Amino acid sequence: MAVQISPSILSADFARLADEAAAVPNADWLHVDVMDNHFVPNLTLGLPVVESLLKATSIPLDCHLMIEDPDRWAPAYAEAGAGSVTIHAEASRAPVRTLRQIRSLGARAALALNPGTAVEPYEGLLGEIDMLLLMTVEPGFGGQKFLDMVLPKIRTARALVERHGGEIWIQVDGGVTGDTIERCAEAGADVFVAGSAVYGSADRAAAVETLRANAAK
Ligand code: DX5
Ligand code: ZN
Repeated sequence: MAVQISPSILSADFARLADEAAAVPNADWLHVDVMDNHFVPNLTLGLPVVESLLKATSIPLDCHLMIEDPDRWAPAYAEAGAGSVTIHAEASRAPVRTLRQIRSLGARAALALNPGTAVEPYEGLLGEIDMLLLMTVEPGFGGQKFLDMVLPKIRTARALVERHGGEIWIQVDGGVTGDTIERCAEAGADVFVAGSAVYGSADRAAAVETLRANAAK
């Protein structure tokens, strides 16, 4: 599976989101962190901003919902036109229903697990998802240090996905840099979210290419 890079606009200038999207024409996705100050201790943006971004860029949006009631809100992001919608296993009360709704509305459906959440209990959901997001920091903020403890879980997830068959991507999010991306790729991840590593660089497009090259090493 080819490496994919999803720059996170959490580290972008929120007053210039259209320009910040245009700065990464070589990105496969644009990662949009939706935070509600309940599931995580931070507040970012919601559906109206996603709707505006969809008009401002042709890069598909990868919406990561860090919200308390994803079952209520996730379908609206798919309906608005997000290419991928991710819900957290820790927050969803009806993941099967919600993941099916996301797919039926034409988006890719993804399930996210916090660093302390084991992957094995969710093996039964693999048939409902297109991507598994393994958080490599506790969700809520950009610029945190990568948690090495998640590496064995990436390996376990890769083995489960291979056994399941089908095309399920494994995404990592948090502390992904030119250095940590190599270890994540080696462990079996193929979609990489990077906030500060891209938007903290003067040349955002070059940062995307460096990440892509390092992941493929
Ligand atoms: C954190 C968010 C991430 C964040 C990553 O909760 O889900 O997408 O933007 O930022 P970096 O890459 O700086 O760790
Ligand atoms: Zn994220």
